[in-house]
Amino acid sequence: MVASELITNALRHGDISGGAIEVRAFLDVTGGAVLEVLDSSDRPPLILGEDPTTEGGRGLFLVRLTTRELGWRPLRGGGKSVWCVLNAERDPAAV
Ligand SMILES: Nc1ncnc2c1ncn2[C@@H]1O[C@H](COP(=O)(O)OP(=O)(O)OP(=O)(O)O)[C@@H](O)[C@H]1O
Ligand SMILES: [Mg+2]
Repeated sequence: MVASELITNALRHGDISGGAIEVRAFLDVTGGAVLEVLDSSDRPPLILGEDPTTEGGRGLFLVRLTTRELGWRPLRGGGKSVWCVLNAERDPAAV
């Protein structure tokens, strides 16, 4: 769900004139599972309110509710990254 929301936002609201969006998934230095989606627009994402009368504007609100952290950063040379840290725990007993 989180990947779908961030990717859909990049395609719908971001600037894809750069030719493509980029999706990254990695573990940060603390072991947090990070998902980030890059697009070519400098416009920041907005977490809209909980207005029950509107149909849209729920995506990032839901991402914020279901992840450990949600943020964005401008990219050197233009564009931005919207990223979140998933609520995934690494099982130390897992192979
Ligand atoms: N990658 C992005 N680039 C630029 N603006 C963005 C981006 N992602 C989100 N936004 C802005 O933040 C707003 C809120 O995003 P959100 O995903 O919560 O709602 P939505 O995409 O408008 O509707 P929904 O996700 O419910 O279909 C968007 O309407 C848009 O203005
Ligand atoms: Mg959305």
